Amino acid sequence: MTFDALLPRVKEVEHEYRKIRYQSLIVDEARKAQGREGDRELTYGTTTPRLALRILLEILHAGPGDIFYDLGCGLGVPTIVASLLCKRATGIDVLAPILDHPRQVATALKLRNAKFIAGDFREQDFSDGTAFYSYSTCFSPETRALLAEKVSAAKAGARIATVTHPLRHPKLEFVEKVTLRWGDECLPP
Ligand SMILES: C[S@@+](CC[C@H](N)C(=O)[O-])C[C@H]1O[C@@H](n2cnc3c(N)ncnc32)[C@H](O)[C@@H]1O
Repeated sequence: MTFDALLPRVKEVEHEYRKIRYQSLIVDEARKAQGREGDRELTYGTTTPRLALRILLEILHAGPGDIFYDLGCGLGVPTIVASLLCKRATGIDVLAPILDHPRQVATALKLRNAKFIAGDFREQDFSDGTAFYSYSTCFSPETRALLAEKVSAAKAGARIATVTHPLRHPKLEFVEKVTLRWGDECLPP
């Protein structure tokens, strides 16, 4: 699968996400509802659909045999894009109400292999995963250590891409650090 072959489907994803207005406010409301408005670990940011596709193809080398997880999935863009090319894609986020939005996108695009779990990923079992993503910029060192521990329980050959901080664990091999630009992928072709 190539970027160009998947681009038409990713454009459909972009189209669906454009319908979700005030995305930061949606997340803000959910944080307030849980009494966690000042919690830095729940800082929101989204990976754009085209950037998610690049990460999946060029960094994670994801394909039809993969079971993908986004740990801290937010409004679900990477999970939705992963479901276009992986066997199964699951997003986990602690802010339950925001997951209604990616579920609606999955329904609109008939993506039956996309799933969203409300919960703290530190308490979830995702050891069946083979390709992981986590936009971990605002996670504490303790959360990152726990994340590394849990990901290290995955099968040999599993890969994880994290944003900002590499995960450190004796069972994880550091492969490469890349610089990505968040902006260009947002632009219309
Ligand atoms: C920077 S956003 C990234 C969203 C998405 N992964 C993306 O790239 O578009 C980080 C998300 O992680 C979630 N999060 C933070 N800590 C979490 C935890 N322990 N368990 C589940 N979700 C968590 C936050 O609620 C937030 O939605």
